[in-house]
Amino acid sequence: MTREELLSPGADPVEAAEETTLRPRSLAEFVGQPKLVEHLEIMLAAAKKRSQAVDHILLSGPPGLGKTSLAGIIATEMGARLCPTSGPALERAGDLAAILSNLDCGDILFIDEVHRLPRAVEEVLYPAMEDFQLDIVIGKGPAARSIRLDLPRFTLVGATTRTGLITGPLRDRFGFVARLDYYVPEDLASIVTRAANILGVPLVADGAVAIAGRSRGTPRIANRLLKRVRDFAEVRGDGRVDAATAFEALALFEVDVLGLDKVDRAILNALCRTFGGQPVGLGTLSIAVGEAQETVEDVYEPFLLQCGLIQRTPRGRVATAAGWEHIGLSSPTLPPASIGLFDEQQSSD
Ligand SMILES: Nc1ncnc2c1ncn2[C@@H]1O[C@H](COP(=O)(O)OP(=O)(O)OP(=O)(O)O)[C@@H](O)[C@H]1O
Ligand SMILES: [Mg+2]
Repeated sequence: MTREELLSPGADPVEAAEETTLRPRSLAEFVGQPKLVEHLEIMLAAAKKRSQAVDHILLSGPPGLGKTSLAGIIATEMGARLCPTSGPALERAGDLAAILSNLDCGDILFIDEVHRLPRAVEEVLYPAMEDFQLDIVIGKGPAARSIRLDLPRFTLVGATTRTGLITGPLRDRFGFVARLDYYVPEDLASIVTRAANILGVPLVADGAVAIAGRSRGTPRIANRLLKRVRDFAEVRGDGRVDAATAFEALALFEVDVLGLDKVDRAILNALCRTFGGQPVGLGTLSIAVGEAQETVEDVYEPFLLQCGLIQRTPRGRVATAAGWEHIGLSSPTLPPASIGLFDEQQSSD
């Protein structure tokens, strides 16, 4: 299984329905991210106390960490209506204007993939977020005139996997930017245990720990791996999910000790074996592993970087000593020129 398969939300209708059932519904059910949860609790409680709509919130972080779940939770906690849409769905300024003019006071407008809003649509959002006003143009040609409508006080919740792609003016209009981090194994074990209870899977504590340790810090992956291990346990075992069954199943699905899959290993192999440790640009790397650039950048790289297996340099990606070691090679002494002076600097290629 590749991480894309594990992360794609809703490819299979049954899995998509199960994902909805597994979504935490309240902040109390939301496991992990303690700082973020505390900030949100305070913000929501204060807004409720003042009987006001809560300030606009931007949720950012890699796929599968709980952004959509949190948007639903914010609406539930505020007792408000959730109006979900997404950046790519809003093609024209009129699409957003129609949604905005139908909002009621306190409604939560959730825009997923907010970094993919077309610029013209984004411009409609600025006065709506800041002054709760909507400028619309009526008519065409010389008869066209612009009118300004007052909007109810709503809350915009935006979600993005790429904070870097959000324009400055948009980001500045959010009252709170919440960054979700990868989850620690203990939290993932709780998430898997909760999911097993909901799905009726007989999961033993050491089985939860085994799955948690290979879920790359991501709740969606933890839940998907649980389901795959459950399948394996039902077919090859007695249905009980313990550590031994989990390890056997995950080995079969080619998920390794760190939770890396085929594509992660292909990236390491390309960097170390194919290109022999020289810095590799994103375009070349994506072709070498047969994945889209965006997928490599959004889905695979963040975790490999987080694990310290690869590094981004101004001249391209390189594997670290730990990366070489992970695929069973010893790290060569790289010529000094191959790693730039500004290794810490983020570069997209
Ligand atoms: N903190 C959490 N506690 C329990 N379960 C969680 C938590 N976060 C996420 N999950 C589980 O992970 C699944 C994926 O979460 P969600 O869809 O909210 O992620 P996302 O950040 O919106 O991902 P994407 O960027 O792909 O849209 C949820 O269905 C839920 O089961
Ligand atoms: Mg989502």
